[in-house]
Amino acid sequence: MSALSTEEQALVAAARGALAHAHAPYSRFAVGAALRLTDGKILTGSNFENASYGLSLCAETVAIASANAQGRLRDIAAIAVTGGPMDGGGDAVITPCGRCRQIIKEAQDMAGRPLAILCAAPSGDAVRRFDLDYLLPDAFGPANLGIGG
Ligand code: THU
Repeated sequence: MSALSTEEQALVAAARGALAHAHAPYSRFAVGAALRLTDGKILTGSNFENASYGLSLCAETVAIASANAQGRLRDIAAIAVTGGPMDGGGDAVITPCGRCRQIIKEAQDMAGRPLAILCAAPSGDAVRRFDLDYLLPDAFGPANLGIGG
């Protein structure tokens, strides 16, 4: 992958910072996400589990809902995601789960331009850059319901 820009490095650092706020006592797998908005502002999210297990919220979803709560859903330009076991021992790159891919699709289509997805290991240099169309090909989206961006 080509080297990260300074902006991309800052976004990955913010996602790594959000790992500290993961509420993940059940899986003990922390995930951090960071969004860069068009004006450079960075918003973060962390996974937020609860005792019902299945109702847990992913870090990417939390971050995107936070942008929406600030009226900024259409302004998301990039997202960085990282995660690994809270007890250490994991240095893999993770990619967004299926539901998060659909939610990123909503943000991208509302923005009307491609949203860069950076997937980074919790530490070290391993980072992969994806397009949503690669992660979620032939996706169902707002256009199928006659809704434009
Ligand atoms: N998780 C995320 O936050 N994002 C993903 O894209 C994949 C999974 C969280 C959910 C759960 O809290 C933990 O990681 C283990 O699945």
